Amino acid sequence: MDIATEYRSHPGQGRSRTVPRALAALRAVRSRGRVIVRSLDARHHADIEAFYTGLSPQTLSRRFHTPCTVLRPYQLRFALSMDGTEHIALGAFRDGELVGDGRLVRVRSDAPTAEIAVTVADGAQGHGVGARLLHRIGERARREGVTHLVYTIQTDNDAAVRLFAARGRTQSRGSGQLTGVIDVAALAGSQSPYRAGPIAARPGTSINPTTEILK
Ligand SMILES: CC(C)(COP(=O)(O)OP(=O)(O)OC[C@H]1O[C@@H](n2cnc3c(N)ncnc32)[C@H](O)[C@@H]1OP(=O)(O)O)[C@@H](O)C(=O)NCCC(=O)NCCS
Repeated sequence: MDIATEYRSHPGQGRSRTVPRALAALRAVRSRGRVIVRSLDARHHADIEAFYTGLSPQTLSRRFHTPCTVLRPYQLRFALSMDGTEHIALGAFRDGELVGDGRLVRVRSDAPTAEIAVTVADGAQGHGVGARLLHRIGERARREGVTHLVYTIQTDNDAAVRLFAARGRTQSRGSGQLTGVIDVAALAGSQSPYRAGPIAARPGTSINPTTEILK
């Protein structure tokens, strides 16, 4: 039943009953295909498990920096271990389905530096979901008092290089991986995640990844 039919089929029942249902349906139609980013918590465990178990070996391997054919139990345990302070998870939902996952992890809840990771479902890659998540990670980081985001990516991972390295500065490179840092102020201040230019390196600063948490 479309929205118009729904409305016409209850002509005598007043706006209070039919209009909210019609509006809800209209909102659902309008949001179709749109990506909505929200915090992930324990209520999203099933979504997270479905998301990670559905990733291809290549995406899993790029995300965890180790060859993977299937999701390993320790990787799923990590994916479900967000606590909202030291380990923050953001999810990108499209039509109610989790299609992107962004992580921000720090060793203490007041640490100014956090490691980040972004993963997008295979079928949703290349459509701006990763950039959107990174932008929202930046906003959240700023609210949490995080000033620098550390990323580790594989040097042959073109999408990740475009996403992270173009917005940050490289700290170290070797064994097919590079680690870099993004200045949160510059990231969150950019008008659009797609238009953020390269972030100027600060001479003399060097921020190393603090943990192996995200690997
Ligand atoms: C890396 C990843 C998160 C990027 O997310 P995405 O939604 O596919 O990327 P977007 O569409 O937002 O594009 C981001 C940038 O990468 C570029 N890009 C996207 N796919 C690309 C590709 N296949 N080759 C080259 N560049 C690509 C876009 O043009 C964009 O560049 P811009 O910012 O200069 O405009 C995603 O591909 C992914 O999940 N990969 C596997 C896991 C991973 O590698 N994670 C990173 C390490 S934690």
